[in-house]
Amino acid sequence: MPQTIRLDKAVSQVTNLSRADAKRAAKSGRITVNGEIITNPATKVVDEDILCLDGRQLSQPGPRYFMLHKPLGYVSASKDSEHPTVLDLIDEPNKHLLHVAGRLDIDTTGLVLITDDGQWSHKVTSPRHHHHKVYHVHLADSIAENAADKFAKGVWLDGEQKRTRPAQLEALSMKEARLTISEGRYHQVKRMFAALGNRVLQLHRERIGTIVLDEELAEGDYRPLTEIEVNSIQ
Ligand code: URA
Repeated sequence: MPQTIRLDKAVSQVTNLSRADAKRAAKSGRITVNGEIITNPATKVVDEDILCLDGRQLSQPGPRYFMLHKPLGYVSASKDSEHPTVLDLIDEPNKHLLHVAGRLDIDTTGLVLITDDGQWSHKVTSPRHHHHKVYHVHLADSIAENAADKFAKGVWLDGEQKRTRPAQLEALSMKEARLTISEGRYHQVKRMFAALGNRVLQLHRERIGTIVLDEELAEGDYRPLTEIEVNSIQ
């Protein structure tokens, strides 16, 4: 189902008009949708509709790509009734078109990619495209000696039919490690350590493929991806 949005909201997202201004503009007949004057600001429109204000077509943004430094307590969904979402941290027009490419749990921090390009986000998340995800992990207990071997062979996650794909574990201290995985199953890192009888206390994503979380970005900040970063996802 195409996502619908009120006309006044759609116009205010792609212009510098406030919602109230956009309502007035509609009521005074200044807005057309697919060539027809629409005076009811509550009319629902979809992305494909061509909106004009005073005869000028309102530009549809091209594909957009951002990286965000996700703080704790934010969900990666577009909407949530209980918690703030990572999209609440984004101040861009036509925000409803954006989505997260590869979710993080509410209690995970770090690199989140946000885009309106569905094919690109599929490549980010699909294991077939081999974009490794790198996590910095703090654990409750010391890392078992054979943990790296087990992860390299793949472990069985509770309730799953297939072993995890080979993953690389680099111990940074007794209870701290960097883990590189090439898939994104539900709570994957936490469940991989649970499979070894350990528990993740803190989880932070540092990298996806060659896209590294920009150290200039404070928690909650975001920036557009560079062309090189966008094109690194193939
Ligand atoms: N693995 C997890 O368990 N949680 C995340 O947020 C990401 C990977």
